[in-house]
Amino acid sequence: MLLTHSHLDHSANSGAAPFINAQVICHPLVAGKINNLKRNYTDITAEMVRVFGVHGFFGRTGMLGPPMIKQLQSIQKLSPALFNRILYAVSLVICRRNVGRVYPPVRNVTFLREDQRTDLCFANTLFRGWPLSEDLFALETPGHQDDHLSFYVPDRKIMFAGDLISFLNPNDILDGSLKDTHTWMKRLLQLAEAGGIDILAISHALPLIGKEQVITYLRSVIAKQEDTFNTVAEIVASCPDKSDFDSIMSKVYAHESELMKKILKINYPRTVSFIDVYVYLYLKEYFLFPNHGSTMR
Ligand SMILES: [Fe+2]
Repeated sequence: MLLTHSHLDHSANSGAAPFINAQVICHPLVAGKINNLKRNYTDITAEMVRVFGVHGFFGRTGMLGPPMIKQLQSIQKLSPALFNRILYAVSLVICRRNVGRVYPPVRNVTFLREDQRTDLCFANTLFRGWPLSEDLFALETPGHQDDHLSFYVPDRKIMFAGDLISFLNPNDILDGSLKDTHTWMKRLLQLAEAGGIDILAISHALPLIGKEQVITYLRSVIAKQEDTFNTVAEIVASCPDKSDFDSIMSKVYAHESELMKKILKINYPRTVSFIDVYVYLYLKEYFLFPNHGSTMR
């Protein structure tokens, strides 16, 4: 069983009884996230709550009411470690209540090894990854998630790209980075333009079939990405205090462009929007910690 990445909608129950005799093959970084796979949890949530506080992260949405926000604020102030444990436990309880117990792969998991990762070149396009057999390769394609793999069958020119080329607008980047997303989407386009992809199998939608269709699709997703990136960059540039997440997000939510309105419709105000994470990653990678946030190779 090949796991493209550690999100629950791609990995849930891969450790459950019917699959116990199948080896689950995944990126080495998944080893540190096995516990996240018991619940719908990503490290970026905890990180954003830590950086922007409970109100900064949840306050704009209807996800938590004012009494709950107040209570969590006092716990966070009292003990950040206890607060993190509570956040983690709450996500487990919510997941158990909504979908029941989830079994991550534990006994039947094979983490690919860092020391066996190698350079791989297809149609003059460079990747890093692991040969799984003579005709099947696991390629590192971080962006959407730092442990993301794409699986490639060169003889058939089939690329299984998981969530790298996302169906959402913008790409719902979670434990990943904007820089990696741009890099690896473009790398897939480079391979497609060189004639290396005839079938692009993406998550949450039907596969793209035919070289031209694949190229057109990749170009259109990259263009949407760039449009989102430029809009966010323009909004952030107009905010004098790059650490004031609340005012930056108010400007993002009030932005008049059709693009931003469309993005906000995806899940706001039920929960913090994917655009919250996108803006946070933009600030982190370009202002707050410009030397971090990318695993560009
Ligand atoms: Fe995902």
